[in-house]
Amino acid sequence: MPDSKLSSSIAIVGAGDVGATIAFSLIMNPVAGDILMVDPKEEVRDAQIQDLSDATFHGDTSTQIRAGTHKEAGQCDIIVFTAGAKQKKGESRADLIGRNKSILESAISDMQPFAKHTILLLVANPVDVITYFAQKYSNLPKSQVIGSGTFLDSARLRGVLAAKAEVSASSIDAYVLGEHGESQFVAWSAASIGGVPLEQTLLPNTKLDKAAIAEDTKNKATSIIENKGATNYGIGAVTASICKSILSDQRNIRPVSHYQEDLGVCLSIPAVIGRQGLVRTIEVGLNEEEKTKLKKSVEALKEIINA
Ligand code: LAC
Repeated sequence: MPDSKLSSSIAIVGAGDVGATIAFSLIMNPVAGDILMVDPKEEVRDAQIQDLSDATFHGDTSTQIRAGTHKEAGQCDIIVFTAGAKQKKGESRADLIGRNKSILESAISDMQPFAKHTILLLVANPVDVITYFAQKYSNLPKSQVIGSGTFLDSARLRGVLAAKAEVSASSIDAYVLGEHGESQFVAWSAASIGGVPLEQTLLPNTKLDKAAIAEDTKNKATSIIENKGATNYGIGAVTASICKSILSDQRNIRPVSHYQEDLGVCLSIPAVIGRQGLVRTIEVGLNEEEKTKLKKSVEALKEIINA
């Protein structure tokens, strides 16, 4: 029975592979009544909408998808920003800032004035720096400007640990924090399975090569890009999950990128996500080594911001 209660709207700015995959995730797991796709490349945008519309007929959703303008996007409950250049082989996420910062600035100006309660959800890379400039350009309350951050990296990490511990990934609490990029780190001291510290709950004789797991998690996107040209499914799923946390006011705790008053940058620390966007940050107890890694992430991000 279609769910006719869905009345909220999500704009997806950028109709490339990532934007279309986010839209597909939102159609298959309905959270909004309306999805607007915004992209100046109208032929691509309209073709994506045509294709995605064929997925709305699966019977148990009232979600509709259509083309929208930047002005209409500014009035939506959530604006997902995916527009911009994507990493090519051999490129780092940080290499994209020049092109993507100006695309962001022009899109924000075209979307303003924003609806009072809109949430700006940044996905384009380098996402932490894009989030920083989005909260600057938009003048929205900082709690309403969130980046996907290291949510995807943390999901990747949990997948590895779940396989080693032979438990569901949803039973693992483990975070990748800091920059969604080269300076990210795993907060091993806070990792647990079912609330029990990781080391005490792995299978007997299961060795954890923490350095290798952290490195593989950090480099997963690069290896995918080398072989298929881009990533889209992982980021599509986690972004749709953040949209659901917001629209259903779920108060999930997610490592998303948001402005840190004391650090002067946007980076990922676990935070409570609800309809107002960022409800509050959850202070994770970091050990000295992890605090040093967080500082390195701040320095790396400031370097890109000030470049
Ligand atoms: C990745 C992109 C979203 O990590 O940065 O797959």
